Amino acid sequence: MFDEYGIPRGADLDEATLVPLYHFVYCSRAAEGVDDAEVSRIVAVAQRNNLAHGITGVLVFGSGVFFQWIEGPAAEIQKLIATLHRDKRHHDIVSLSQSEEERERLYPNWDMEKVEAEDIRLVLQDALESTEDKNNRVTLMRILEQLDLSPLGRV
Ligand SMILES: Cc1cc2nc3c(=O)[nH]c(=O)nc-3n(C[C@H](O)[C@H](O)[C@H](O)COP(=O)(O)O)c2cc1C
Repeated sequence: MFDEYGIPRGADLDEATLVPLYHFVYCSRAAEGVDDAEVSRIVAVAQRNNLAHGITGVLVFGSGVFFQWIEGPAAEIQKLIATLHRDKRHHDIVSLSQSEEERERLYPNWDMEKVEAEDIRLVLQDALESTEDKNNRVTLMRILEQLDLSPLGRV
């Protein structure tokens, strides 16, 4: 707690400003009819809400697949996760990673930024290689299969 001089540890270090931060990373399949205009509407609402709730992150949309990173206070992230699961504009939500740690935000200035995905396939394959969870692997492989079959996959 205190060093040998009685000064609180970390008081003059960056770590003094670190707070517990929860992150949730997932990918999902966009519902039929969800196009760039709809994604822009999602991002506009997300930016407004996230700013109010201390959430930051990135949303990638490509070939009919979403990939999103959200980070912020645990309670707010849990609420957003529940909301996301109720949102009919996507399905097949695969949780890729979530945990709470004391660290800096990865995207401190992005309430929610849409990032173009030239090839979301690479992102999904990377996730497939790094996940140990069997259910995640099955769903990720299904999304990849659908991506290959769907006209959306041939953009
Ligand atoms: C792929 C995807 C990502 C989303 N990301 C966010 C988000 O980061 N923040 C947010 O508030 N809503 C996000 N939404 C929208 C929520 O599901 C929900 O529609 C919205 O938060 C409701 O806002 P409202 O209560 O102001 O109408 C996302 C929806 C989808 C389909």
